[in-house]
Amino acid sequence: MYVCMCYGVTDKAIKKAVEAHGAGNLRELREVLEIGSQCGKCISMTQQIIDATIVDESLFKEVC
Ligand code: FES
Repeated sequence: MYVCMCYGVTDKAIKKAVEAHGAGNLRELREVLEIGSQCGKCISMTQQIIDATIVDESLFKEVC
C-alpha cells in the first residue's frame, strides 16, 4: 500500500528501511528514503508503521 503519494513510498519500503537501516523515527527514515517533506499528509501513518515494525522486531528478538 502506498503511504506517501508525493514520493511513491510504500509501507513495505518503510518496513525495509527500518529493518535494514535501524531507522527509529521519521528524521532517521528521511536519511534513507525521500518521504514526508512535500505535503506532510503521510507523516502520522509513517510513524505508525515505524513503531509497529520496531515492536515486531523486538518480539522476534525475544523469541530467539
Ligand atoms: S504524501 Fe508524503 S509528502 Fe505528501
